[in-house]
Amino acid sequence: MKEIPLGFVTGTIIKRIDWAEHLFSLRVQAPINAFPTPAFTAGQFSKLAVLNEQDEWVRRAYSMVNKPSLSGNNIEMEFLVIEIPDGKLTPLLEHKQVGDEILVGTLPAGFMTIDEVPEGPKDLWMLSTGTGIGPYLSILEEVEQCQRFEHLILVHAVRTKEELVYKEKIMELMKTYQGKLRYVPIVSREEVSGTLSGRIPQRLQDGSLAKAAHVKPSIEKSFFYLCGNPNMVHDTRDCLQQMGYKKHLRRETGQFSFENYW
Ligand SMILES: Cc1cc2nc3c(=O)[nH]c(=O)nc-3n(C[C@H](O)[C@H](O)[C@H](O)COP(=O)(O)OP(=O)(O)OC[C@H]3O[C@@H](n4cnc5c(N)ncnc54)[C@H](O)[C@@H]3O)c2cc1C
Ligand SMILES: NC(=O)c1ccc[n+]([C@@H]2O[C@H](COP(=O)([O-])OP(=O)(O)OC[C@H]3O[C@@H](n4cnc5c(N)ncnc54)[C@H](OP(=O)(O)O)[C@@H]3O)[C@@H](O)[C@H]2O)c1
Repeated sequence: MKEIPLGFVTGTIIKRIDWAEHLFSLRVQAPINAFPTPAFTAGQFSKLAVLNEQDEWVRRAYSMVNKPSLSGNNIEMEFLVIEIPDGKLTPLLEHKQVGDEILVGTLPAGFMTIDEVPEGPKDLWMLSTGTGIGPYLSILEEVEQCQRFEHLILVHAVRTKEELVYKEKIMELMKTYQGKLRYVPIVSREEVSGTLSGRIPQRLQDGSLAKAAHVKPSIEKSFFYLCGNPNMVHDTRDCLQQMGYKKHLRRETGQFSFENYW
């Protein structure tokens, strides 16, 4: 057996959900609690690694979809993955089933967390494309911490309806938040009733996102997280900047932050 790279432990897949062809979730149990690192913070990402045919470890970053949860001395981490047909790791992940082993990173990272949102804004806008919805679901599971916000707006932009994942989970969360959580699905490549069409920047610009969320964005009240496709992040940043919002820096408070997936 090839040596496990530094910063990884062997976990076991305990659940697999197939949302659509090439779009799936893997829930992994791993003995990470035994390490001196703390459990991850909601919104962070870790790494998954698998051996390829050349007997080399292929590793990539994946966000946790769940909030930190312990099970004995093990931590459970759920990941939402889309298969990239000519990708190096995702075609290997696509073959993973319940009971299979997989390497998980022991040092979760990332700053797209609740604590990093500055104190002033009352409305947290969580804009995502594709699998970029993952970290927001983790954040939303931290119900107590999210009570500081007046509104939580979860925007999920996908190509087709079947990629609108975790709907049941989102409905449960909406019940829990009793009106505080607004969910706005956007589908770009087919007409789907009850969803917006097009892309996030267009819908921000023409006001239809605000209308669908029943929340009016403003520089004083809003903070935006952007996550997923770097082209969406780029175009949405441009759009927000044109509207007068600034990138948030620790040394200078702004109204948006982002995480690019590639
Ligand atoms: C901080 C961070 C968190 C991430 N979290 C997730 C996650 O939760 N789920 C997830 O599926 N991926 C996530 N990614 C992307 C992931 O790390 C891999 O890049 C992705 O799974 C492709 O790996 P691959 O080896 O199969 O493809 P590669 O051989 O590395 O090919 C990469 C190409 O695939 C495309 N691509 C990469 N990621 C995506 C994606 N998520 N959706 C659509 N197209 C993509 C891009 O065109 C990119 O150039 C994250 C990346 C970062 C940096
Ligand atoms: N093997 C398969 O059959 C299969 C199936 C599906 C996906 N995939 C793989 O998965 C990848 C796509 O995953 P995905 O659908 O999650 O990602 P995606 O291409 O990032 O699309 C997600 C959403 O982001 C939107 N978007 C793209 N560029 C944008 C921009 N500049 N500004 C704002 N929004 C933008 C898309 O709109 P538009 O629709 O307008 O671009 C779409 O609504 C592909 O690279 C493909 O390799 C494979």
